[in-house]
Amino acid sequence: MGLPKKIAPSILSADFARLAEEIAKVEAAGADMIHVDVMDGHFVPNFTIGPPIVKSIRKVTKLPLDVHLMMTNPENFIPEFIKAGSDYLTVHVETCPHLHRIIQSIKEEGVKAGVTLNPATPLVSVEEILPDVDLLLIMSVSPGFGGQQFIPDALEKLRRARKMIDDSGLKVELEVDGGVKPDNMGALSQAGADIFVSGSAIFGSRDYKDTIQKMRKAIGE
Ligand code: DX5
Ligand code: ZN
Repeated sequence: MGLPKKIAPSILSADFARLAEEIAKVEAAGADMIHVDVMDGHFVPNFTIGPPIVKSIRKVTKLPLDVHLMMTNPENFIPEFIKAGSDYLTVHVETCPHLHRIIQSIKEEGVKAGVTLNPATPLVSVEEILPDVDLLLIMSVSPGFGGQQFIPDALEKLRRARKMIDDSGLKVELEVDGGVKPDNMGALSQAGADIFVSGSAIFGSRDYKDTIQKMRKAIGE
């Protein structure tokens, strides 16, 4: 009962020195959106990109920018990420004591608001906010790095998230991020995922088009 299935390459595993070219390649290969991982070296043990780079990326692609904020106090930077051209902004429930306020501040600007939770954070922690969000992201690795192993328990969590969304009758997109590859995408699709984030499996492959085609087959499209 999900929404249209989408593939979102995570540029974390792209060659940052040739970012425009890498984005053009996945766009030509049939990607549906571009996943941008923002890491602050505080909430997660890695450091990546900020609003200026999102602004530059915005100029080189027509695809929606799915910006995943792995940072503490995201409210301090949300206006800048919106100005930079984000289409989706997703915050971690672990970093947002005032989640409702943050979600509203994103939606007020006409940007899609997402919420996500780490593998060890229970699904019930997003139950109350679900009617207010456009997207629910289930992390299937502990955030911070590309190329990590998919945590198998995430599959059952995804099923429960699907049921929670369907039972509520809401049109929330269900996304999965971490260790997603052609081999496990069939199962993830059956569990109810709508959006599949994948970094190393795409950018680490020789032929992005071939990989994305394999992914589409795996998710039944
Ligand atoms: C993990 C990031 C992911 C990451 C996924 O902290 O949120 O988006 O880029 O990379 P892969 O697909 O290699 O696990
Ligand atoms: Zn991500």
